[in-house]
Amino acid sequence: MDSLSRALLFDFHGVSMTHYFTNNWENVQNFQARPDDILIATYPKAGTTWVSYILDLLYFSKMSCQRQTTVPIYDRVPFLEIAVPALVSGKDMADHLPTSPRLIKTHFPVQFVPKSFWEQNCRIVYVARNAKDSVVSYYHFDCMNKVQPDPGDWSSFLQRFIQGKMVFGSWYDHVNGWWKKKQTSSRIHYMFYEDMVENTGQEIDKLCSFLGVSPTPEEKNSISVRSQFDSMKKDQMANNSTNAVMDFNVSPFMRKGKVGDWKNHFTVAQNQDFDEDYKKKMKDSQLQFRTEI
Ligand code: PPS
Repeated sequence: MDSLSRALLFDFHGVSMTHYFTNNWENVQNFQARPDDILIATYPKAGTTWVSYILDLLYFSKMSCQRQTTVPIYDRVPFLEIAVPALVSGKDMADHLPTSPRLIKTHFPVQFVPKSFWEQNCRIVYVARNAKDSVVSYYHFDCMNKVQPDPGDWSSFLQRFIQGKMVFGSWYDHVNGWWKKKQTSSRIHYMFYEDMVENTGQEIDKLCSFLGVSPTPEEKNSISVRSQFDSMKKDQMANNSTNAVMDFNVSPFMRKGKVGDWKNHFTVAQNQDFDEDYKKKMKDSQLQFRTEI
């Protein structure tokens, strides 16, 4: 693990990336999806782990208690494109998942998704989170994650976010690219982090109807309770505390779990500049995000 270092950003097919997510490109692009695979797609920090945890409980909580108590969420739901030296690649982990369905995570913008997911007509759950809370969460994450690019100070990080110079590229392109794809695909369920915070039960209901699963009201309630922030934060198999590339002395992975934490980070001037730029970048978008609830 000592050989791991902070990566440098570079342009990869028009998207800022690091080698940890492009090293295995050919293999990832040739990944063979199965019709019942479920892809969980997000821009980083949108609630990937939360939705992964909910889906895992929906499908497998009755299968075995041991799964929930001994297997970290990042092994239950592999991160398809990750390829960190000395660790099994996400693609190999996904290939060897024993479950059906297989739950697979990606942060790819829509144009990078391996073609077999479309050919196999897989279900895809896309989660989006408002830009301001996303950039704040991403900043803390890059401070504590030893393989992410050096975040620099908050102000320069925010500028880079606005310019799209983040790992997995521009937030604006990501949320809009997936939204556009959703307009022609009934296999994509597009959901919002803010809705999950406001009413987790309702969002679980929508997920169930999209996935065609019918848990009992008691099961649904139990999943909703177990997936609340405080409960997941305490769960060592969900909170990433066993993740070798994260330094919890800097910040926990389960940090705040709130809508509106951006207000504790943006100065008045940063907020004005951000809003002005946001209006321009999102002027043709139908997407409406809530920055407070
Ligand atoms: S990653 O690294 O991209 O996969 O991160 P991701 O899981 O997408 O996002 C992490 C943020 O989601 C918050 N989170 C939650 N919020 C509310 N409720 C629950 N249960 C929950 N689980 C994870 C997590 O705290 C990160 O957000 P911040 O704002 O940093 O707290």
